Amino acid sequence: MLLFNTQNELISYLNSTSNREMSVGLVPTMGALHEGHLSLLSEACQHNAIVVISIFVNPTQFNNPEDLSKYPKTLDKDIEKIKTVSDDIIVFAPSVEDIYRGEMVSEHFDFDGLENQMEGKFRPGHFNGVGTIVKRLFDIVKPTNAYFGEKDFQQLQIIKKMVEKLKIPVTIVGCPIYRESNGLAMSSRNERLSATERKEAAIIYKTISQAQNLFKTKSAEVVYEFVIKTFEKQSNFELEYFEIADETTLLPCIRKNKTKKYRAFIAVFVNKIRLIDTISLN
Ligand code: PAF
Repeated sequence: MLLFNTQNELISYLNSTSNREMSVGLVPTMGALHEGHLSLLSEACQHNAIVVISIFVNPTQFNNPEDLSKYPKTLDKDIEKIKTVSDDIIVFAPSVEDIYRGEMVSEHFDFDGLENQMEGKFRPGHFNGVGTIVKRLFDIVKPTNAYFGEKDFQQLQIIKKMVEKLKIPVTIVGCPIYRESNGLAMSSRNERLSATERKEAAIIYKTISQAQNLFKTKSAEVVYEFVIKTFEKQSNFELEYFEIADETTLLPCIRKNKTKKYRAFIAVFVNKIRLIDTISLN
């Protein structure tokens, strides 16, 4: 396994003549790896000659300083987990200085309004930060394919939009959500939950699964009410938003339209730890 801590070293390695002709798969992460990340890596290994995983907690995408400072950093453990997938994976773990070169600011992007919904409303500047780092990683690695989890479905749609608008020659591959045995979507932030909170957080998936069922026969309004009421009864959980949105435009569903594909999106705080989840509705 190769570990690079600077973009120059990684670029020189990837530019060596034999490597540039091969397909390169990139799995961008912020570390604290779990089974979901490992599934992205396995997928990348199956379809690419070279696989790079980036591990970089990107400061510009955090709108909450406490969330950034508490984000788990577990590089040694992450490397052990990566080796369980393959010994040939390249790890890119740069410093903030190496990536931002003294100018830690986001670029400004226009994602055709996708950035103004849900996460964009509640985390101002978040998607400019995500766009900035993902574009920079694409510039460095020049991947053939890049892999992202569907848990961050809005992020996935935004990255597809960025690639389309900036004509970046990379295929974006979305991969299914991995869940713990109680249904909780795997997330690096789950590490910060106590054992009880982690158990109780099953209510998130349980509720959106019930919402999925209700949506088959009831209006969006009824489903919204059901979810809001469910979380009003949960004193340890604070619902930040629940949204039923068109999968492509991410605009909220006011009245159901049979020709559209909808998805439910949820963000919930458990003791100041923010968890998100999503489920396809039809
Ligand atoms: O989904 C994440 O972990 C991050 O937003 C990403 C895509 C690695 C960019 O920092």
